[in-house]
Amino acid sequence: MTLADPGLARPNAPLPNRYGAMCTEVYDLDKPPGSLPDVPFWIDRLAGTGGPVLEAGVGTGRLLVPLLEAGFQVEGFDRSADMLAVCAGHCAARGLSPALRQARFQDFAYDRSFAAILVPVGTFNLIDDFGEALGVLRRFFDHLAPGGRLMIDLLPPGFLANERPDIRTWTTPSGDLLRIEGRAVDIDLVRQRRVTHDRYERWREGRLVESELEVMAFRIWGLKEFEMALAMAGFVQISVGADHQSGKRPGRSSRILNFEALRPA
Ligand SMILES: C[S@@+](CC[C@H](N)C(=O)[O-])C[C@H]1O[C@@H](n2cnc3c(N)ncnc32)[C@H](O)[C@@H]1O
Repeated sequence: MTLADPGLARPNAPLPNRYGAMCTEVYDLDKPPGSLPDVPFWIDRLAGTGGPVLEAGVGTGRLLVPLLEAGFQVEGFDRSADMLAVCAGHCAARGLSPALRQARFQDFAYDRSFAAILVPVGTFNLIDDFGEALGVLRRFFDHLAPGGRLMIDLLPPGFLANERPDIRTWTTPSGDLLRIEGRAVDIDLVRQRRVTHDRYERWREGRLVESELEVMAFRIWGLKEFEMALAMAGFVQISVGADHQSGKRPGRSSRILNFEALRPA
């Protein structure tokens, strides 16, 4: 699968939020299908959804697979060919065959509408430009059936100024040591944008045999700011919860904000 992407016109400049091969391998080792505590929350929230569901930025199928296994009619798109290939493999191994396609938030297009669109785990924060993000919200609106629901999880504001390095390791089934060292290299409080450099390394018998750089760019939203952005895109009945717990209001220690909004019938 190939996709024209403006970033690829500059071959030596890493495309932000690329989710390349090593990043995909680590994502899948760290968060295999069904992992993370949000799965029951999504199953609960989608109960009774009468129609197809779209997961935008479906990744490796971490959430898609358990949703399909729970009987929901879900499909997905993602920009990363590496993430999609892993997703397709997980689905095939379980006899599942959802529609998956390579596309970007900024220009995905379907010729039908969905009963719900999901964007879990802070993926929407990867749209690091304000204007582009507003355009994506309008695109989500246009792809929902009247009465359809948009559900987006956002990283909390505290993430913007977090300067703590992220150093973690994993062991692959063949015994390689995978290591990530992530550092914030730019924190722009005015544009609410944070850039990190994540260096992925593969160590075998004490030698570094492979490394990859992922440049990650996030835009962090204020709670009221995002409610207004949803309203500007035409959404109504906007609500926000926290930490995937039913009825929990966002507060100082919230780890994730759970927005839901409706396209009017
Ligand atoms: C944090 S992962 C989430 C994957 C999955 N939704 C989950 O819950 O595990 C973010 C995903 O967004 C995708 N992504 C990043 N920027 C994108 C863009 N502009 N258009 C489409 N997908 C994008 C990445 O390739 C990656 O698979």
